[in-house]
Amino acid sequence: MALNKTENENVRNLGFCLHTKYQGKGLGTKAVEKAIHMAKEELEAKKLLAGTADSNIPAVKVLKHFGFVKIDSAICAFCRDADDKPISFSGSSYVLHLRDF
Ligand SMILES: CC(C)(COP(=O)(O)OP(=O)(O)OC[C@H]1O[C@@H](n2cnc3c(N)ncnc32)[C@H](O)[C@@H]1OP(=O)(O)O)[C@@H](O)C(=O)NCCC(=O)NCCS
Repeated sequence: MALNKTENENVRNLGFCLHTKYQGKGLGTKAVEKAIHMAKEELEAKKLLAGTADSNIPAVKVLKHFGFVKIDSAICAFCRDADDKPISFSGSSYVLHLRDF
C-alpha cells in the first residue's frame, strides 16, 4: 500500500498491490480500508486519487466498494512489445472525498 504525496498537500495518491499468493482472499479490501483511514486520520488528507486498468476487476471492485468515483478514462501504455509497439490498455482514474468516508 502507498499513500504518495501529490502537488496538493491535501491530496494523496493511493497505490495498492498484493503478492499473487495473497490475492483474492479479502486482504486487499482490508488493506485499502486501513489505508483510507490512515490517510484521513493520520495524514489529514481530504482527497484520495487512485487508478487502475478497467479490466482489473478486483481493483475496480475494491475502489467502488469504498465509494471511489471514476473521474477520467484514457488509453494508456507503459510498456512496449518485442516489435517496439506500445502495449495499450483502457485505464481510469478515481477519486474519494474523505469527508464522505
Ligand atoms: C487489486 C488487489 C489489491 C485486490 O485485492 P484482493 O485481496 O485480491 O481482493 P479481495 O479479495 O479483497 O476482493 C475484492 C473484490 O474483488 C473480487 N475478486 C477478487 N479476485 C477476483 C478475480 N480474480 N476475479 C473476479 N473478481 C475478483 C472479490 O470477490 C471482491 O468482490 P466483492 O467486493 O464483490 O466481494 C489485488 O488483487 C492486487 O494486488 N492485484 C495486483 C495489483 C493491482 O492490480 N493493483 C491495483 C491497481 S494498479
